[in-house]
Amino acid sequence: MSSPHPILITSALPYINGVKHLGNLAGSMLPADVYARAMRLLGHDVLYICATDEHGTPAELAAAEAGMEVADYCDAMHDAQAEAGAAFDLSYDWFGRSSGAATARITQEFSAALERAGLIEARTSRQVYSNADGRYLPDRYVEGTCPNCGFESARGDQCDSCGKLLDPVDLIDPYSAVSGSKDVEIRETEHLYLKQSEMSGRLREWVEAQTDWPALASSIALKWLDEGLRDRSITRDLDWGIPVVDAHGNPRPGFEGKVYYVWFDAPIAYIGATQDWAAHQKEKGTGGDWEHWWKVGDGDTTKYVQFMGKDNVAFHTLSFPTTIMGVNSETDGAPWRLVDTLKAFNWVTWYGGKFSTSSRRGVFMDQAIDLAPSDAWRWHLMANAPESSDAAFTWEEFQASVNSDLANVLGNFVNRITKYAGSKFDGRVPDGGVSGGHETWIIDEISRRLPVMIDHFNTREFRKALGEMRAIWAAGNEYLTRAAPWTHYKTDVDQAAVGVRMGLNLAALYGIISQPVIPRAAASILDALGIPENRRSWDFDGWANALPVGHTISAPDVLFSKIEDAQVAEWTERFGGEAAQAS
Ligand code: 2FM
Ligand code: ZN
Repeated sequence: MSSPHPILITSALPYINGVKHLGNLAGSMLPADVYARAMRLLGHDVLYICATDEHGTPAELAAAEAGMEVADYCDAMHDAQAEAGAAFDLSYDWFGRSSGAATARITQEFSAALERAGLIEARTSRQVYSNADGRYLPDRYVEGTCPNCGFESARGDQCDSCGKLLDPVDLIDPYSAVSGSKDVEIRETEHLYLKQSEMSGRLREWVEAQTDWPALASSIALKWLDEGLRDRSITRDLDWGIPVVDAHGNPRPGFEGKVYYVWFDAPIAYIGATQDWAAHQKEKGTGGDWEHWWKVGDGDTTKYVQFMGKDNVAFHTLSFPTTIMGVNSETDGAPWRLVDTLKAFNWVTWYGGKFSTSSRRGVFMDQAIDLAPSDAWRWHLMANAPESSDAAFTWEEFQASVNSDLANVLGNFVNRITKYAGSKFDGRVPDGGVSGGHETWIIDEISRRLPVMIDHFNTREFRKALGEMRAIWAAGNEYLTRAAPWTHYKTDVDQAAVGVRMGLNLAALYGIISQPVIPRAAASILDALGIPENRRSWDFDGWANALPVGHTISAPDVLFSKIEDAQVAEWTERFGGEAAQAS
């Protein structure tokens, strides 16, 4: 087990433009939550921060579509996303907003520091201007044909077909996403540029020095470095966002009607949201020190872990580190913290195709929770996490995960042993009998698998961690088959007592290990077994005899309902699936 150092965890901030789909959940927020829960159980001081990403064209376009003022839209959608997160039991220490005052202040301060460091400069740039709309069309406000793959509805910032990051002026046959007008021209206007190219050497050195980044993350970072980092404009011609100010905090001449680019301020919102968390803690009178999470002090042991989908990797391994390293070069005192390790995910696909928030394709968090309990989704999405490749979501596989892993393996075990103890041993942990070969077998099996499972959680290898967890549950069923207390009961109650005692201790262990992934079912098991809150951490010494003889237990309510074929048919019809993909 690793020593319990503090762990700062952030998951990529979900755009405000709608409740997120299962792909977003599985690629950042959910694994961050599972990791946060596991690390808390191992005794680490954990701070898990997330927030809605409320700036940029996604926010403005979605608000316009909803016919709302952007600020009102963001208020409503932040609440909707917070509610969806709570329904999935995401245990954020703080779910903040990138539109808060703290993020704006730090963004402006960082920009000033980077300019002092010579890493930001104003340059004249070419932007798409719409005569019909009377405005510039940054990022997603302009669409057209992708110069890379020929896709005809590529967005100005990125092509949804080939994934390439684009500059709106490179689109072929551009048109306004606001009005559809093709009456657009290229105009010159001033913007601030972050000189990432000057940082290439330091960034490469830093990326190459990382030993525990997954290959997906380092390979993306190195690919960008190999292709040559380009300086990026970090301001946009938009009204909604963080205004560009001068060194005195006054509107910067020539930058009226311009704000910071959403990707400049979004990662800074990790810090802003932590400050908002700290202010809230102070109000409650429960501490609230943000600095030790974000400033590297003497003898600092804190580790900072980020979770994100693969499209976010370049921003977190190159752009944001450029900001942090650049600001640090201008900072007296403790430096700002850089990420220690990041966990990047491939895509969860919708039957092999893309989930899409803007075209509402796939299943969204608010819909999913009406179909099945959060534990069912959490287990399925993490057991099939898109770690080494994309992973297709299908209703049939979801049904198989729930029915087989949860209902047949875990649910059935806990149900069998607790009901049997209730009916034959008066709902108490029985005394008597002498442990034998079956007990030696199960203790060895668990002793071998537990540290492996913990190790996989420590290294954030979720498929492997959950594979071990499933094997530990399955071993319980195998033990009951071997020990067969129901057979012995007729001739040798003491012998049966050994099996029931071990079975109940296994059930308690299963409740304890399952907490990070299926917190609700785990709590039901632990409540039914009368395990107090302060005995639920991941300290497994003496697990096989943890329940005292005579301790009262009960059977939990049904832990997992099976998903019927009729439900699969209904959901396929309602949400599409293969048919939707084909269309
Ligand atoms: O891709 C996205 O959904 C972005 N909103 C992620 C931002 S992550 C961070 F930097 F805030
Ligand atoms: Zn393309």
